[in-house]
Amino acid sequence: MDSRTESSEALRQQLREIARLACRARCIVVSTGAGTSAESGIPTFRDAQTGLWARYDPVMLASYEGFVTDPENVWRWYDERRQAMALASPNPGHLALARWEALALAGGQEFLLATQNIDGLHSRAGSMHLLELHGNIWFARPLKGAYSEACELPQCPLPQLPPYDGQGRLLRPHVVWFGEMLDNAVLSQAMVTAGRADLLLVVGSSSQVYPAAALPHAALRKGGTVVEINPSETELTPHAHFSLRGPSGELLPQLLAEIELLHPAAEAAAPAQRKGAP
Ligand SMILES: NC(=O)c1ccc[n+]([C@@H]2O[C@H](COP(=O)([O-])OP(=O)(O)OC[C@H]3O[C@@H](n4cnc5c(N)ncnc54)[C@H](O)[C@@H]3O)[C@@H](O)[C@H]2O)c1
Repeated sequence: MDSRTESSEALRQQLREIARLACRARCIVVSTGAGTSAESGIPTFRDAQTGLWARYDPVMLASYEGFVTDPENVWRWYDERRQAMALASPNPGHLALARWEALALAGGQEFLLATQNIDGLHSRAGSMHLLELHGNIWFARPLKGAYSEACELPQCPLPQLPPYDGQGRLLRPHVVWFGEMLDNAVLSQAMVTAGRADLLLVVGSSSQVYPAAALPHAALRKGGTVVEINPSETELTPHAHFSLRGPSGELLPQLLAEIELLHPAAEAAAPAQRKGAP
Protein backbone atom coordinates (compact mmCIF):
# COMPACT_ATOMS: atom_id res chain seq x y z
CA MET A 1 0.00 0.00 0.00
CA ASP A 2 1.45 3.42 -0.89
CA SER A 3 1.14 6.27 1.60
CA ARG A 4 -1.74 7.90 -0.31
CA THR A 5 -3.80 4.69 -0.21
CA GLU A 6 -2.90 4.27 3.43
CA SER A 7 -4.04 7.79 4.34
CA SER A 8 -7.27 7.47 2.38
CA GLU A 9 -7.95 4.17 4.20
CA ALA A 10 -7.23 5.91 7.54
CA LEU A 11 -9.66 8.69 6.61
CA ARG A 12 -12.32 6.13 5.63
CA GLN A 13 -11.93 4.43 9.01
CA GLN A 14 -12.28 7.72 10.84
CA LEU A 15 -15.36 8.61 8.81
CA ARG A 16 -16.86 5.19 9.59
CA GLU A 17 -16.21 5.63 13.30
CA ILE A 18 -17.76 9.12 13.29
CA ALA A 19 -20.73 7.74 11.32
CA ARG A 20 -21.22 5.07 13.99
CA LEU A 21 -21.23 7.76 16.68
CA ALA A 22 -23.61 9.86 14.55
CA CYS A 23 -26.09 7.00 14.38
CA ARG A 24 -25.95 6.33 18.13
CA ALA A 25 -26.05 9.97 19.30
CA ARG A 26 -29.16 11.37 20.93
CA CYS A 27 -28.11 14.95 20.29
CA ILE A 28 -25.92 16.18 17.41
CA VAL A 29 -24.64 19.75 17.10
CA VAL A 30 -22.76 21.11 14.09
CA SER A 31 -21.03 24.46 14.42
CA THR A 32 -19.97 26.05 11.14
CA GLY A 33 -17.73 28.97 10.24
CA ALA A 34 -16.71 30.92 7.15
CA GLY A 35 -14.72 27.98 5.69
CA THR A 36 -17.99 26.10 5.08
CA SER A 37 -18.93 28.72 2.48
CA ALA A 38 -15.44 29.03 0.96
CA GLU A 39 -16.29 26.49 -1.76
CA SER A 40 -19.36 28.58 -2.61
CA GLY A 41 -16.96 31.40 -3.49
CA ILE A 42 -17.47 33.49 -0.34
CA PRO A 43 -14.14 34.61 1.15
CA THR A 44 -13.36 33.65 4.74
CA PHE A 45 -12.56 36.39 7.23
CA ARG A 46 -8.83 35.77 6.72
CA ASP A 47 -9.21 35.92 2.91
CA ALA A 48 -11.21 39.10 3.32
CA GLN A 49 -8.40 40.74 5.27
CA THR A 50 -5.99 40.19 2.40
CA GLY A 51 -8.43 40.49 -0.50
CA LEU A 52 -11.08 42.83 -1.74
CA TRP A 53 -12.03 44.20 1.67
CA ALA A 54 -8.47 44.83 2.83
CA ARG A 55 -8.86 48.46 1.69
CA TYR A 56 -11.71 49.00 4.18
CA ASP A 57 -11.45 49.55 7.92
CA PRO A 58 -13.58 46.70 9.29
CA VAL A 59 -14.24 48.49 12.57
CA MET A 60 -15.72 51.51 10.78
CA LEU A 61 -17.87 49.25 8.61
CA ALA A 62 -18.93 46.70 11.20
CA SER A 63 -19.51 48.65 14.40
CA TYR A 64 -22.26 50.78 15.92
CA GLU A 65 -19.96 53.82 15.96
CA GLY A 66 -19.08 53.41 12.28
CA PHE A 67 -22.75 53.04 11.38
CA VAL A 68 -24.00 56.13 13.20
CA THR A 69 -21.12 58.14 11.70
CA ASP A 70 -21.99 57.21 8.12
CA PRO A 71 -24.94 54.80 7.66
CA GLU A 72 -24.92 55.20 3.88
CA ASN A 73 -21.27 54.14 3.60
CA VAL A 74 -21.80 51.12 5.86
CA TRP A 75 -24.87 50.06 3.90
CA ARG A 76 -22.96 50.47 0.60
CA TRP A 77 -20.38 47.96 1.89
CA TYR A 78 -23.06 45.52 3.05
CA ASP A 79 -24.92 45.92 -0.24
CA GLU A 80 -21.70 45.01 -2.12
CA ARG A 81 -21.33 41.90 0.03
CA ARG A 82 -25.00 41.03 -0.51
CA GLN A 83 -24.52 41.32 -4.26
CA ALA A 84 -21.50 38.99 -4.11
CA MET A 85 -23.34 36.53 -1.85
CA ALA A 86 -26.41 36.57 -4.11
CA LEU A 87 -24.27 34.91 -6.80
CA ALA A 88 -23.26 32.07 -4.44
CA SER A 89 -25.11 28.78 -4.08
CA PRO A 90 -25.02 26.17 -1.33
CA ASN A 91 -22.12 23.78 -1.95
CA PRO A 92 -22.07 19.99 -1.36
CA GLY A 93 -21.06 20.58 2.29
CA HIS A 94 -24.17 22.69 3.01
CA LEU A 95 -26.35 20.13 1.22
CA ALA A 96 -24.83 17.19 3.11
CA LEU A 97 -25.59 18.87 6.45
CA ALA A 98 -29.22 19.45 5.45
CA ARG A 99 -29.59 15.81 4.36
CA TRP A 100 -27.93 14.59 7.58
CA GLU A 101 -30.36 16.68 9.63
CA ALA A 102 -33.35 15.19 7.77
CA LEU A 103 -32.07 11.68 8.52
CA ALA A 104 -31.39 12.49 12.16
CA LEU A 105 -34.85 13.97 12.69
CA ALA A 106 -36.47 11.00 10.92
CA GLY A 107 -34.60 8.76 13.35
CA GLY A 108 -35.79 10.73 16.41
CA GLN A 109 -32.42 12.38 17.11
CA GLU A 110 -31.98 16.00 18.10
CA PHE A 111 -29.97 17.99 15.54
CA LEU A 112 -28.86 21.61 15.74
CA LEU A 113 -26.78 23.62 13.31
CA ALA A 114 -25.21 26.73 14.86
CA THR A 115 -23.48 28.89 12.28
CA GLN A 116 -21.29 31.96 12.50
CA ASN A 117 -22.04 32.63 8.84
CA ILE A 118 -24.33 35.44 7.86
CA ASP A 119 -24.74 34.43 4.20
CA GLY A 120 -28.00 32.45 4.57
CA LEU A 121 -26.62 29.47 2.59
CA HIS A 122 -27.53 26.87 5.23
CA SER A 123 -31.21 27.74 5.10
CA ARG A 124 -31.07 27.84 1.29
CA ALA A 125 -29.63 24.30 1.45
CA GLY A 126 -32.63 23.19 3.52
CA SER A 127 -31.29 23.16 7.10
CA MET A 128 -34.17 23.67 9.50
CA HIS A 129 -32.92 23.60 13.09
CA LEU A 130 -30.57 26.49 12.49
CA LEU A 131 -29.19 29.18 14.77
CA GLU A 132 -27.46 32.06 13.00
CA LEU A 133 -25.24 33.22 15.85
CA HIS A 134 -23.99 36.35 14.08
CA GLY A 135 -27.25 37.22 12.31
CA ASN A 136 -28.11 37.19 8.62
CA ILE A 137 -27.07 39.70 5.97
CA TRP A 138 -30.44 39.31 4.17
CA PHE A 139 -32.27 40.74 7.19
CA ALA A 140 -32.36 44.22 8.72
CA ARG A 141 -33.87 45.75 11.83
CA PRO A 142 -34.54 49.27 13.09
CA LEU A 143 -31.40 50.83 14.56
CA LYS A 144 -33.30 51.52 17.76
CA GLY A 145 -35.43 48.35 17.58
CA ALA A 146 -35.21 44.93 19.22
CA TYR A 147 -33.28 41.97 17.77
CA SER A 148 -36.62 40.21 17.26
CA GLU A 149 -37.82 43.04 14.96
CA ALA A 150 -35.60 41.78 12.14
CA CYS A 151 -37.27 41.43 8.76
CA GLU A 152 -36.05 40.17 5.44
CA LEU A 153 -34.68 42.70 2.98
CA PRO A 154 -34.44 40.62 -0.19
CA GLN A 155 -33.99 43.37 -2.82
CA CYS A 156 -30.45 43.34 -4.15
CA PRO A 157 -29.01 45.83 -4.84
CA LEU A 158 -31.05 47.90 -2.42
CA PRO A 159 -32.97 50.71 -4.16
CA GLN A 160 -32.15 53.22 -1.44
CA LEU A 161 -29.15 53.56 0.87
CA PRO A 162 -29.57 53.63 3.79
CA PRO A 163 -32.92 51.81 3.89
CA TYR A 164 -35.83 52.82 6.17
CA ASP A 165 -38.85 50.79 7.26
CA GLY A 166 -42.51 51.68 6.62
CA GLN A 167 -42.57 53.82 9.77
CA GLY A 168 -39.59 55.89 8.63
CA ARG A 169 -37.15 54.20 11.02
CA LEU A 170 -33.51 53.86 9.94
CA LEU A 171 -32.63 50.19 9.39
CA ARG A 172 -29.33 48.52 10.26
CA PRO A 173 -27.97 45.20 8.95
CA HIS A 174 -29.14 42.30 11.14
CA VAL A 175 -25.60 41.14 11.89
CA VAL A 176 -23.50 41.19 15.04
CA TRP A 177 -20.91 43.95 14.90
CA PHE A 178 -17.57 44.37 16.66
CA GLY A 179 -18.17 45.19 20.32
CA GLU A 180 -21.73 43.82 20.34
CA MET A 181 -23.03 40.86 22.33
CA LEU A 182 -24.72 37.97 20.59
CA ASP A 183 -28.47 37.76 21.12
CA ASN A 184 -28.93 36.17 24.52
CA ALA A 185 -31.70 33.75 23.54
CA VAL A 186 -29.81 32.53 20.47
CA LEU A 187 -26.53 32.08 22.33
CA SER A 188 -28.03 30.32 25.33
CA GLN A 189 -29.95 27.87 23.11
CA ALA A 190 -26.68 27.06 21.31
CA MET A 191 -24.69 26.65 24.54
CA VAL A 192 -27.33 24.53 26.29
CA THR A 193 -27.72 22.24 23.29
CA ALA A 194 -23.94 21.94 22.87
CA GLY A 195 -23.76 20.95 26.54
CA ARG A 196 -25.97 17.92 25.92
CA ALA A 197 -24.46 16.96 22.55
CA ASP A 198 -23.07 13.44 22.33
CA LEU A 199 -21.44 14.47 19.07
CA LEU A 200 -20.37 17.98 18.06
CA LEU A 201 -18.69 18.90 14.77
CA VAL A 202 -16.84 22.16 14.15
CA VAL A 203 -16.62 22.77 10.41
CA GLY A 204 -14.63 25.51 8.64
CA SER A 205 -13.94 27.69 11.64
CA SER A 206 -10.63 29.03 12.93
CA SER A 207 -12.11 28.59 16.44
CA GLN A 208 -10.78 32.01 17.42
CA VAL A 209 -14.03 33.97 17.57
CA TYR A 210 -15.83 33.72 20.92
CA PRO A 211 -18.42 32.86 22.13
CA ALA A 212 -18.94 30.55 19.11
CA ALA A 213 -15.55 28.94 19.80
CA ALA A 214 -16.81 27.92 23.27
CA LEU A 215 -19.45 25.52 21.89
CA PRO A 216 -17.17 22.47 21.48
CA HIS A 217 -15.80 23.03 24.99
CA ALA A 218 -19.34 22.88 26.40
CA ALA A 219 -19.73 19.46 24.75
CA LEU A 220 -16.29 18.28 25.88
CA ARG A 221 -17.04 19.17 29.51
CA LYS A 222 -20.05 16.82 29.43
CA GLY A 223 -18.17 13.95 27.76
CA GLY A 224 -19.32 14.61 24.17
CA THR A 225 -17.17 13.64 21.19
CA VAL A 226 -15.78 16.57 19.18
CA VAL A 227 -14.87 16.35 15.51
CA GLU A 228 -13.14 19.08 13.54
CA ILE A 229 -13.26 19.46 9.75
CA ASN A 230 -10.79 22.00 8.40
CA PRO A 231 -7.92 21.98 5.87
CA SER A 232 -5.68 23.61 8.54
CA GLU A 233 -4.90 23.09 12.20
CA THR A 234 -6.78 25.40 14.54
CA GLU A 235 -6.90 26.23 18.23
CA LEU A 236 -9.45 23.44 18.62
CA THR A 237 -7.25 20.73 17.08
CA PRO A 238 -5.49 19.67 20.30
CA HIS A 239 -8.87 19.23 22.04
CA ALA A 240 -10.77 17.42 19.27
CA HIS A 241 -11.22 13.64 19.29
CA PHE A 242 -11.08 13.57 15.47
CA SER A 243 -9.46 16.17 13.21
CA LEU A 244 -10.23 15.65 9.55
CA ARG A 245 -7.98 17.67 7.26
CA GLY A 246 -9.66 18.79 4.06
CA PRO A 247 -12.36 20.97 2.54
CA SER A 248 -15.83 20.56 4.00
CA GLY A 249 -17.39 20.43 0.52
CA GLU A 250 -15.61 17.09 0.07
CA LEU A 251 -15.48 15.64 3.58
CA LEU A 252 -19.09 16.28 4.63
CA PRO A 253 -20.56 14.39 1.63
CA GLN A 254 -18.13 11.53 2.39
CA LEU A 255 -19.27 11.49 6.00
CA LEU A 256 -22.90 11.59 4.92
CA ALA A 257 -22.33 8.59 2.63
CA GLU A 258 -21.01 6.60 5.62
CA ILE A 259 -23.92 7.71 7.81
CA GLU A 260 -26.40 6.68 5.12
CA LEU A 261 -24.93 3.18 5.10
CA LEU A 262 -25.62 2.75 8.81
CA HIS A 263 -28.50 5.03 9.71
CA PRO A 264 -31.78 3.24 10.49
CA ALA A 265 -33.81 6.07 8.91
CA ALA A 266 -31.81 6.09 5.64
CA GLU A 267 -33.71 3.20 4.03
CA ALA A 268 -37.08 4.83 4.64
CA ALA A 269 -35.88 8.28 3.53
CA ALA A 270 -34.45 7.30 0.12
CA PRO A 271 -35.01 3.59 -0.68
CA ALA A 272 -34.68 4.01 -4.47
CA GLN A 273 -31.35 5.83 -4.26
CA ARG A 274 -29.86 3.32 -1.84
CA LYS A 275 -30.78 0.36 -4.01
CA GLY A 276 -29.08 2.03 -6.96
CA ALA A 277 -32.29 2.52 -8.94
CA PRO A 278 -32.20 5.25 -11.60
N1 LIG B 1 -19.77 33.27 4.79
C1 LIG B 1 -19.94 34.14 5.79
O1 LIG B 1 -21.05 34.40 6.22
C2 LIG B 1 -18.71 34.80 6.41
C3 LIG B 1 -17.59 35.06 5.62
C4 LIG B 1 -16.47 35.70 6.22
C5 LIG B 1 -16.50 36.04 7.58
N2 LIG B 1 -17.60 35.74 8.32
C6 LIG B 1 -17.56 36.08 9.78
O2 LIG B 1 -16.19 36.18 10.17
C7 LIG B 1 -15.90 35.55 11.43
C8 LIG B 1 -14.74 34.58 11.24
O3 LIG B 1 -14.73 33.40 12.01
P1 LIG B 1 -14.69 31.95 11.33
O4 LIG B 1 -14.02 31.02 12.26
O5 LIG B 1 -16.05 31.63 10.81
O6 LIG B 1 -13.79 32.14 10.02
P2 LIG B 1 -12.24 32.42 9.82
O7 LIG B 1 -12.14 33.21 8.54
O8 LIG B 1 -11.57 32.96 11.03
O9 LIG B 1 -11.67 30.96 9.56
C9 LIG B 1 -12.08 30.22 8.44
C10 LIG B 1 -11.60 28.81 8.62
O10 LIG B 1 -12.08 28.05 7.51
C11 LIG B 1 -11.05 27.17 7.10
N3 LIG B 1 -11.33 26.83 5.71
C12 LIG B 1 -10.93 27.45 4.57
N4 LIG B 1 -11.41 26.81 3.50
C13 LIG B 1 -12.15 25.77 3.96
C14 LIG B 1 -12.93 24.75 3.34
N5 LIG B 1 -13.02 24.66 2.01
N6 LIG B 1 -13.54 23.83 4.11
C15 LIG B 1 -13.44 23.90 5.47
N7 LIG B 1 -12.73 24.85 6.11
C16 LIG B 1 -12.09 25.77 5.37
C17 LIG B 1 -9.76 27.92 7.34
O11 LIG B 1 -8.67 27.02 7.47
C18 LIG B 1 -10.06 28.66 8.64
O12 LIG B 1 -9.69 27.89 9.77
C19 LIG B 1 -17.18 34.94 11.89
O13 LIG B 1 -17.64 35.77 12.90
C20 LIG B 1 -18.15 35.02 10.68
O14 LIG B 1 -19.41 35.50 11.11
C21 LIG B 1 -18.70 35.14 7.75
